[in-house]
Amino acid sequence: MTQGEQKQQVAREAIKYVVDDAYVGVGSGSTANYFIDELAKVKHRIKGAVASSIRTAERLKGHGIPVLELTAIDTLPVYIDGADEVTEHGAMIKGGGGALTREKIVAAVATKFVCIVDQSKLVGVLGGFPLPVEVIPIARSYVAHELVKLGGRPQLRANFITDNGNIILDVEDMRILNPVQLEARINNIVGVVTNGLFADRGADVILIGTDTGVRTLDAHKF
Ligand code: A5P
Repeated sequence: MTQGEQKQQVAREAIKYVVDDAYVGVGSGSTANYFIDELAKVKHRIKGAVASSIRTAERLKGHGIPVLELTAIDTLPVYIDGADEVTEHGAMIKGGGGALTREKIVAAVATKFVCIVDQSKLVGVLGGFPLPVEVIPIARSYVAHELVKLGGRPQLRANFITDNGNIILDVEDMRILNPVQLEARINNIVGVVTNGLFADRGADVILIGTDTGVRTLDAHKF
């Protein structure tokens, strides 16, 4: 089975977690795009969606799914999104597509986070994928120096500005043994908007596309 087919099967499975007559939070990236296409088939069942990026909002609207601002809704039962890496405990690296800040905000509001990935994303230790850090542009050099002190090798993401008008530093060479602690430590660096560690509020359920079908992990059991 190809990586694309694995993404498609988890996208289909994720529809089971969509709550009727409610809003659904929708993430960004290629796996989330498969999910949006599946969501379009059941759009009559939901009130609408909250998007984690401008691109996602456009794709949802293209399918005729109403998109609301997060500020306009009271509750969000579920948020469905991909990841660049995920552990069995539900800790993730996200932000490969650069939408990490809005993704983290929508995820914080949601009651349940369902992570949808192909099997290449499941890892024992986070950090093989460079950790994205969204930074206020004038703080770039300062934040980069602080990240070096933490043992990383920050690289400016070339020709990229986030939906919020900021830059991204992708931090290589991090072997992340305590993701909750590192997430908080990086958030404390002045000038950092968000980092791509989703560990303090990780995934509740992980759907993994494999050659033999979808594996479902309850992150709270590990
Ligand atoms: C977007 O900013 C990311 O957090 C994505 O969720 C992540 O990069 C996964 O993307 P793919 O589904 O394209 O691998």
